[in-house]
Amino acid sequence: MEDFNINYDESQVPHYTLPDPLTFEDGRPVVDAAAWTTARRPELVALFEQTVYGRAPARPEMLVFEVIEEADDALEGHATRKQVAIRLGDGPQAAVLDLLIYLPHARSGPAPLFVGLNFMGNHTVTADPAVRLPSSWVRNIPDRGIEDHQATPAMRGSASSRWALTEILARGYGLATLYCGDIDPDFDDGFRNGVHALYERDDTAGDAWGTLSAWAWGLSRALDYFETDPAIDTARVAVLGHSRLGKTALWAGASDPRFALVISNDSGCGGAALSRRRFGETVRRINTVFPHWFCTNFKAYNDNEAALPVDQHELLALIAPRPLYVASAAEDLWADPRGEFLAAHAADPVYRLLGTPGLPADTWPEVDRPVWGSIGYHVRAGGHDVTAFDWAQYLAFADRHLG
Ligand code: GCU
Repeated sequence: MEDFNINYDESQVPHYTLPDPLTFEDGRPVVDAAAWTTARRPELVALFEQTVYGRAPARPEMLVFEVIEEADDALEGHATRKQVAIRLGDGPQAAVLDLLIYLPHARSGPAPLFVGLNFMGNHTVTADPAVRLPSSWVRNIPDRGIEDHQATPAMRGSASSRWALTEILARGYGLATLYCGDIDPDFDDGFRNGVHALYERDDTAGDAWGTLSAWAWGLSRALDYFETDPAIDTARVAVLGHSRLGKTALWAGASDPRFALVISNDSGCGGAALSRRRFGETVRRINTVFPHWFCTNFKAYNDNEAALPVDQHELLALIAPRPLYVASAAEDLWADPRGEFLAAHAADPVYRLLGTPGLPADTWPEVDRPVWGSIGYHVRAGGHDVTAFDWAQYLAFADRHLG
């Protein structure tokens, strides 16, 4: 096993200088909100595409939504459950993304909603026996009888503690989720499966899209469906994700401005944490163990973070002026909780330039003491997970910003 020299000692964090989001690549300052929106923001989006996540295609022409099921008596009569097949492309390579949606009955008008990818299949998010099992590749879990990469009912509800479904619905929000593996199975196959297979790929292009970029693109396809569903308020869709799927939620929010609010839960390296700090997971470690997540060009920054034209605070800044929540966990050192706070703090000048309150904190807040402006942040007690505490903040933050 390669030695990655993982550092957990604050005194060993290298001295670094962050690129300034409010300075153009040619050194000119960004003088006002218009210069940010029309010129600097697109410049940064292109840099993230070229050097970190890779370039995703536009919305496909062949995009069909098939409502497979609509039941208005779900969850003991409190919600409507919809299961929608998003069909992409045709022929043998066609991909189908299964979207699961719960909408609250207690609401006036179209529902605002949270959307996020799940790790193991829609059926893991809730024990609701009507939820369809994925037919795409899933990770084998021999202890749970999962072999040959086929989903089984054994995992129903296994991730339900991470999705505060009852609470979300009671507060008047819907929840939508889809399995990341429907979009792109999470292993390195040379980009021949999932939605990558729908497109010609130039393997020599260092900026061809990786898996995180494909997952984010899949979230945009869910948004395309929401735009066709009158029961959903498309102007109030919050995208969220945990860990690798938190990295994905941030890139989805940065690259698709239709997401009204973005939540990163413990996203760490390649997500909300600053790469230059090299605390916990590093660029070299993530590119080595997960060679398919980012674009090939990102590998040039292994052990060479200072050469990156961007850092992750600029990813957060791309979400401005839309509300953004960054959540860390105190024991989740692998994800560098302090580096996540520092990135949010370094995104604040862009939020302020755009006339929002930004992040009202200059020092890393105490554990379990959320701070909120248009950027929300907390470091929760405990480890790498999504908990009831996290959801309590997300719901209150959404109430404040989505109304
Ligand atoms: C690994 C990986 C992280 C990632 C995490 C997860 O720990 O190194 O970058 O966030 O898996 O997705 O659970």
